Amino acid sequence: MQDGLTRTARIAGIGGYLPEHVITNADLERMVDTSDEWITKRTGIKERRMVAEDESIVDLIERAGKGAMDDAGVSPEEIDLFVLATATVEQPIPSTAAIAQPRLGLTNAACFDVSAACSGFVYALNVGRQFIATGEAKNVLVIGAECLTRYLDWTDRATCVLLGDGAGAVVLQPAQPGDGILRIAWKTDGNYWDMIHMPGGGCRVPPHQPRVIEERLGYIKMRGNETFKVAVRALTEMSLKVLEQAGVTPADVDLFIPHQANIRIIQAVGARLGLPPEKVYTNLHKVGNTSSASIPLAMVDAIADGKLKRGDLLLSTAFGGGLTTASALIRY
Ligand code: ACO
Repeated sequence: MQDGLTRTARIAGIGGYLPEHVITNADLERMVDTSDEWITKRTGIKERRMVAEDESIVDLIERAGKGAMDDAGVSPEEIDLFVLATATVEQPIPSTAAIAQPRLGLTNAACFDVSAACSGFVYALNVGRQFIATGEAKNVLVIGAECLTRYLDWTDRATCVLLGDGAGAVVLQPAQPGDGILRIAWKTDGNYWDMIHMPGGGCRVPPHQPRVIEERLGYIKMRGNETFKVAVRALTEMSLKVLEQAGVTPADVDLFIPHQANIRIIQAVGARLGLPPEKVYTNLHKVGNTSSASIPLAMVDAIADGKLKRGDLLLSTAFGGGLTTASALIRY
């Protein structure tokens, strides 16, 4: 079941944070031409969270990260590496991880961002566990955090109903073989890079160019229907790949926590994997798609609901802009 790594990493602590402000489907009905019925039926989402005007991503990171460190019983000084997954940076330079570092009190940690959109948390998990495996790090903080509402076009009903803000965090520590993260499979297919993207604010169209405002280039754009089909295929294939690499079958999985993008995507993937509905966890009805925060936030809820327990075999698979896909098999 274990991969070739001589050491492995376990999730020693977990934390999550959601901003207080709730946006319901009824609120969206007042903003764009949509309905609670359409959003519920097509996505499964009922409400999502949004940061307050004086809040930003660093506030979410601080709350989630401190929660995970408390849960693991480690002090901030003991963290030697902090890997932040985000697609919604505080500002282009420097990394958001560096900006958040003093707030978290990580005086001894190297800090950087990983950009893999909705697969970001699993990508960051894979980066973090390598440093535990080589012995270079003993306590790694991995956080997935997003302020997607700051990058949403509130006149585009095809995207603004889907996404929300939040942060989820874990602390990784060395584990015994057979425990913790058993396998991670990942893949990027850049041929689809423009399926989900934000065209403005980078080198091609710098943020100071009037075009960014005039042509609404500073917002997330998505070809939703195309993404839907690619997502079902990619999530299924990557889940089966990681299970095969580990020499187990879907029947061995205790709980499947997929990226919380759309209930219809999740149900289609669950059915293709042959998993009964009670083994497929969702919380997207109350948070929407929180991109790289999605899986750790769902884990927090699954633990609180008594659905995810220590010793369970957890399968977590994500896909997102890039297109990126990643799947982790974890003995929680
Ligand atoms: N309310 C009402 N009608 C809408 C809305 C809305 N919010 N959004 C779109 N529609 C309309 C469309 O205009 C279209 O109308 P038309 O038939 O008159 O042209 C109709 O609904 C059907 O549109 P589709 O796009 O075909 O609808 P679909 O069933 O595919 O659902 C959705 C759209 C929910 C976006 C779906 O495709 C989806 O979930 N895709 C995946 C999105 C995703 O998971 N992205 C993840 C990555 S996000 C990231 O990386 C940050």
